[in-house]
Amino acid sequence: MKNIRVLTGITTSGKPHIGNLCGAILPAIKESKISGVDSFLFLADYHSLIKHKNPELTHLSSIEIAACWLACGLDVSTTTFYRQSDIPHIMELNWILSCVTEKGLLNRAHAYKSAVDKNSSKFPDKNISMGLYNYPLLMAADILMFDANIVPVGNDQIQHLEMTRDIAMKFNHYYGEIFSIPEARIDKDKGLLLGLDGQKMSKSYGNEISIFLDPEQLRKRVMKIKTNSLEPGQPKETEGCSIFNIYSSFASKEQIEDFRLQYGKGISWGNAKDSLFDLLESSLSQFRLEYKLLMKDKSFLERVLKDGASKALNISEGVITRVRQASGIRSFSD
Ligand code: ADP
Ligand code: TRP
Repeated sequence: MKNIRVLTGITTSGKPHIGNLCGAILPAIKESKISGVDSFLFLADYHSLIKHKNPELTHLSSIEIAACWLACGLDVSTTTFYRQSDIPHIMELNWILSCVTEKGLLNRAHAYKSAVDKNSSKFPDKNISMGLYNYPLLMAADILMFDANIVPVGNDQIQHLEMTRDIAMKFNHYYGEIFSIPEARIDKDKGLLLGLDGQKMSKSYGNEISIFLDPEQLRKRVMKIKTNSLEPGQPKETEGCSIFNIYSSFASKEQIEDFRLQYGKGISWGNAKDSLFDLLESSLSQFRLEYKLLMKDKSFLERVLKDGASKALNISEGVITRVRQASGIRSFSD
């Protein structure tokens, strides 16, 4: 039986946080080791140009995210790990797909619509780049380029996966059964980490704890977690409590049960935060050590990504040849 291809991309704009670690990075690393799964993971660096115009941020974030995944245990012998910009076939496919995609489909994209909504009705497209408008197309090219079957994504990306399926079916309708139709796998809310303010941890809310903070900075972040005014000795709720929620994501079953008992007995918020800090420090220190070493060895990171690109190019070459042939772009002697 053919292996299942699982593919996902990470936009290189910003530092990964412990929510990303528990919700995406560690589960993806675990899955990449399952037999029968071919895992593809890439740095979506061209996507980051949509989000901002800060070249240093894009560059540094690509290095940081590459180092992050490797530090957290990604095994490049079981995963195809590459940079989007190393695979020019994606850009070519992007164009070809744009020719079977109706403008009306992209008019309906959430990211584009919300940018329009922020503008006055007189100039609805003010400051909206074609990059933002075409974002779902580039994502479709990322996915279809590797015949991906399953695409693990967050809730905000569901529409993009639906569009990818539409675009693939449209291409197949015109040119024959060229693409397999991918499926989204949506992260369930139950594993969600809460941030410092009690909402979902997210870099867009500024309530996150980065993975590789030094112990002092880590302690400061933990101490910033919002709590209520209950005194030591008063029993406390575990439900909806960020300290308990984050603690549970790193602790063993026994540690969680013990912490729950302490909540019942009225642990002070100070002690609860100390316990959380100790647990995070012991869970993250090894990752931090690895990360620091990797960040000092950029030529190693570059080599890893180039090796990944050469594995990826072997596949993309085959797919783009199939697509060119099907759409009539081929040598005169074929
Ligand atoms: P952010 O909300 O910080 O911008 P992203 O949207 O880039 O995070 O998330 C990338 C992936 O990380 C998501 O697909 C999701 O699986 C995971 N993730 C993000 N935030 C959390 C969280 N608070 N708890 C668990 N997983 C999360
Ligand atoms: N747009 C995705 C995000 O912001 C990242 C991404 C780019 C992606 N291309 C992809 C995810 C292809 C899955 C498949 O999270």
